[in-house]
Amino acid sequence: MSWDILIVNIKGLVQVREPGNHVLAGDAMATLPVLPDAYLAIKDGIIADYGSMSSLLVRHATQTLDATGRFVFPSFVDSHTHLVFAASREEEFVMKIKGATYADIAAKGGGILNSARRLQQMTEDELFERTLTRAHEIVRTGTGAVEIKSGYGLTVRDELKMLRVARRIGRETPLTVKTTFLGAHAVPKDTTQKEYIDLVIHDMIPAVAAEQLADYIDVFCEQGFFTAEETERIVEAGKQHGMCPRIHANQLHRSGGVQVGVKTKAVSVDHLENMGDEEIEALQNSGVMPTALPGAAFFLNLPFPPARQMLQAGLPLAIASDYNPGSAPSGNMPLMISLACIKMKLTPEEAINAATLNTAAALELHTTHGSITRGKVANVFITHPIPSVAHVPYAFGSPVVQDVILNGKTISNP
Ligand code: NIG
Ligand code: FE
Repeated sequence: MSWDILIVNIKGLVQVREPGNHVLAGDAMATLPVLPDAYLAIKDGIIADYGSMSSLLVRHATQTLDATGRFVFPSFVDSHTHLVFAASREEEFVMKIKGATYADIAAKGGGILNSARRLQQMTEDELFERTLTRAHEIVRTGTGAVEIKSGYGLTVRDELKMLRVARRIGRETPLTVKTTFLGAHAVPKDTTQKEYIDLVIHDMIPAVAAEQLADYIDVFCEQGFFTAEETERIVEAGKQHGMCPRIHANQLHRSGGVQVGVKTKAVSVDHLENMGDEEIEALQNSGVMPTALPGAAFFLNLPFPPARQMLQAGLPLAIASDYNPGSAPSGNMPLMISLACIKMKLTPEEAINAATLNTAAALELHTTHGSITRGKVANVFITHPIPSVAHVPYAFGSPVVQDVILNGKTISNP
């Protein structure tokens, strides 16, 4: 018997769990199991075995990696991104520095509409190449599975183009990809709200479904974008075509997005910068994963989601990057964990659970991703030499990841 990859002398093997259904909520989020002085064995792309170095019996392996002084983590699962976009938006960044708000810029045809104009002019191949660069970038910072949304196309042709690019990222990179149709991201200038919603429901959703391009449906439920009632109609239409809802909720206002998410049995409600007691109550025992996007709250100078209050209410919490050109131009998950600790007062253990097992649950990937568990996909990274797990959020912005293994294969030059 021989392993494909054997990692030995691991200082700490992080997020070691027995098989089971691991959505972590409330107090349970405070515990992050770490096995000291450990080994990890990989075979056929799967986590085959792990344990203490003192119990290592089979040492034959095609490749042996020495992780002395280094930790092994399960790869991050980033459950909310807009990875497919044409170009960055630094000019709006500068406008914001000078006092404009996200809503001001959007109302002037900037923001999402700005990204849509540029994306509509770009070929599918060019869009793929740009997205591929970002996919490699997030692999280097420890992400192994990612959700990718449409929403910068805003025409049938361009929404399909975005989703084809997202699916192609799933086929041509080692990332596990789930896709989300977000046609209802903004209303184009030359269309009325009603006309555009009709287009989303009657043209876009059936076309996306016909090519099986989306696993989920999303709506930007927000003042100036889509109301709670419109959100409900749109996601119900998506459900009829097999797309489960996940919703952009309560980013700029208490938009009713959380309640619509609960009512329509969304898999997650994301953002949550504007939460009241009713929203927290609505989420209790709902099965909906509340997801914070600390990069977006940081970049837009918004209040952060009331994470401690949510955990005290017994809720689970996930943390994703929201990587996009307008409100969160970073897919760096270690940085998101730092922000969650520093700005939302999560402990390192809570933040890491939120960005691994709970984001895996938010993508319905928790039986295969998000922890070091026998039988799960061998998606792991080895850190640089660091003193402790808490060093990851503590040393904010510092490189964390040294070696990456996805689907049981080492990624060279991650
Ligand atoms: O998640 N809030 C809506 N959508 C994105 C931002 C989109 C953009 O500004 O390009 C978000 O923050
Ligand atoms: Fe988003």
